[in-house]
Amino acid sequence: MAPVYEATVSAPVNIAVIKYWGKRDPTLILPTNSSLSVTLSQDHLSTRTTVRASPDFGGDRLWLNGAEEDVGASRRLANAIATARGLRAALEDQAGGGAVPLSQWPVHVCSENNFPTAAGLASSASGYAALVSALAALYELPQSASELSRVARVGSGSACRSMLGGFVAWHAGVAADGSDSLAEQVAARQHWPEMQALVLVVSDQKKAVSSTAGMQTTVETSALFAERVRTVVPARMAAMQRAIAERDFAAFAEITMKDSNQFHAVCLDTYPPISYMNDTSRAIAGLVHAFNAAVGRVAAAYTYDAGPNAVIYALEPDMRALVELLAYCFPRPADTAPEAFYPDPFGLFESPASVGHAVALPAVAALAEATGRFPAGSVRRIIHTTVGDGPRVLSPAQSLLDSAGLPKARRDHHH
Ligand code: DP6
Repeated sequence: MAPVYEATVSAPVNIAVIKYWGKRDPTLILPTNSSLSVTLSQDHLSTRTTVRASPDFGGDRLWLNGAEEDVGASRRLANAIATARGLRAALEDQAGGGAVPLSQWPVHVCSENNFPTAAGLASSASGYAALVSALAALYELPQSASELSRVARVGSGSACRSMLGGFVAWHAGVAADGSDSLAEQVAARQHWPEMQALVLVVSDQKKAVSSTAGMQTTVETSALFAERVRTVVPARMAAMQRAIAERDFAAFAEITMKDSNQFHAVCLDTYPPISYMNDTSRAIAGLVHAFNAAVGRVAAAYTYDAGPNAVIYALEPDMRALVELLAYCFPRPADTAPEAFYPDPFGLFESPASVGHAVALPAVAALAEATGRFPAGSVRRIIHTTVGDGPRVLSPAQSLLDSAGLPKARRDHHH
């Protein structure tokens, strides 16, 4: 039997605390400013990808969550695959004929998220990080994760930060060829083990302006944006790295909230204006400020990307009170089981069904009473997770392709 050249990996989602918004080069995806993110655990949010190379394949093919996509239709996808192939070709040249010519063979790529697409969570970051990590494993590339982040970057900017775990900076760089525009770990997840996150999936009808299109209009039209790039972000990058190094949650939280607010302000300053947050998003932000006031310190921080979902960072000891408050004010949708609304992965509660009925801390209970309840289902689910590691190489048993190199009948590996 001929050997199979295949690799399967998983890659994480990341959520920025200093936002990337704006490109100075849209083809190489070079940003106007540096950004910083937290990598979330792959136990709750991840993309799994299998790539196989074979001289018998008729051409490159890709399946995403069960549906075949046209590889030729996406320049970014073609760029990412071509860049990884180029690195493999260089390796083959060095080996002088002693290496299997994988760079010349077509690939089949099969990719699946372990979270529902309907959740409205951006998956391009974990998706491109998984694709590039899988190609790097298949091609046995010697480059570090940081070096490979340049390849993920040409697929989607934020994807470069999903190539590493923990707390990650994407340095904007200055080189025209993008060689210094890459991601680097600022701190490992073990540095701050109490750091946790809640993803609040917010219901929304309208289709958002894509990040790619939105940020280009911002660069062209917003005066506020120029000031953000010139003075605000550089100062915040330094202050945020200090906050992480010192595990200063109050500083981390304040910068996170201010940077999210400025990103959305810059969107509103774009012409025509772009708005990603909705009434539920704004209510959650207000509730986080009220929670901080009630507990008498900055214990939670919200951040929002190009959509209405909220991500809230808080330290482990504050999570129970926060979830109680959120689940009280944003009751689960009638058609969703308690375990699906809030699965309670860390066993904070007696049972998921008990969540949202009572708030223990008197100050927070008073806040819950005063706030009252929003319509059930305004928040569709709450994903509770931790800071996570970078892409993982999985065993051949985890492959998404069958012996013919086509997608296996989809088994449910959703959590
Ligand atoms: C608001 O990485 O999705 O999430 O580079 O065009 O693919 P492209 O854009 P993308 O933009 C993400 C923007 C953001 C902020 C962030 O993640 O830093």
